[in-house]
Amino acid sequence: METKVFDHNTVAAAAKLIQAGEVVAFPTETVYGLGADATDPKAALKVYAAKHRPADNPLIVTVADPAMVARYATITPAAQQLMDAFWPGPLTIILDILPGALSMVVTGGLQTAAFRMPANALTREMIRLADRPIVGPSANLSGKPSATRPEHVLHDFDGAIAGILDDGPTTVGVESTVIDMTVQPPAILRPGEVTPQMLAPYIGEVATDRHKVGAKETPKAPGMKYKHYAPTAQVVVVDHPADWPAAIAWATAHHQPFGVMATDAVLTTLPAAVPTYSLGANLASATRSLFAGLRWFDLHPTVTLILAEAFAPEGLGVAYMNRLLKSAGNEHFQPDED
Ligand code: TXA
Ligand code: MG
Repeated sequence: METKVFDHNTVAAAAKLIQAGEVVAFPTETVYGLGADATDPKAALKVYAAKHRPADNPLIVTVADPAMVARYATITPAAQQLMDAFWPGPLTIILDILPGALSMVVTGGLQTAAFRMPANALTREMIRLADRPIVGPSANLSGKPSATRPEHVLHDFDGAIAGILDDGPTTVGVESTVIDMTVQPPAILRPGEVTPQMLAPYIGEVATDRHKVGAKETPKAPGMKYKHYAPTAQVVVVDHPADWPAAIAWATAHHQPFGVMATDAVLTTLPAAVPTYSLGANLASATRSLFAGLRWFDLHPTVTLILAEAFAPEGLGVAYMNRLLKSAGNEHFQPDED
């Protein structure tokens, strides 16, 4: 099939494809999503098929406004407070659903569902015109880095989905914070731009131990158990700025050719011949560029090892390190290795 590209002039045609049960990729402030009618199990199944996603991994229900959530779920007072404070925005809220309100294809058989109202106005317009919520998993082949630019989506799905709504690069760069409001205290299942410190004034203390990379217990968000964000090359995390000379020496001796993903302050200290991808100046730009960098190295398959810069796991750094460590399979550079 031909994958049609839509923009603000043609958003109504994209909404028509959603109504017709087709898959249309859409922009959000975090990453691109793969959209399909959340009230049509056949349409939702097409999303699993396109992503090669395991069927026990439930899909996010993406809405244009909180009123759309009320059709399918019980909105508790605490959940209402979060919607008022953080929507539209990168916070996905898990709620108990009304019995039978959503297909098992969407919920993965759970009695709960994840709801999200993204900050992208064009996507909300498409959902409003379609007049139904859309499922919205990240628009990447299962296991691959999420897509933060339209060209990433087309790389994975050109010819396999009906369309893409193009609104340029995303701004946050990592997926939304997922908070489970069906447990006490509420639990963060996936860290994102909205941090526990930002949530505390509304709902008090939240549990944050569920998403630790390498944690042994069964993950509550089914999506967290699969290998994620993995480029073809092995990623190795460089934890401390002082480790870079030793890391470069180790990679030069054992892993030619290798690449580096780091901020400009680090890149200016490297030998000229090393292929590099800039993470910009700071944590925000690094978070925005992380997936684009991993995908860039996939287009340069001679590189089999990527050294990547760590940030302190505080604030947005928790989300950045969560994605980076998953892409690295938790591999850190050990300064005393040789
Ligand atoms: O930023 C985002 O959230 C992006 C954009 C496109 O909106 N979407 C996204 O969707 O990241 P996805 O499907 O890749 O990640 C959703 C996560 C998965 O880890 C899934 O297992 C979890 O949320 N999830 C969904 N429904 C759930 C539920 N009822 N209970 C627990 N976890 C759930
Ligand atoms: Mg995903």
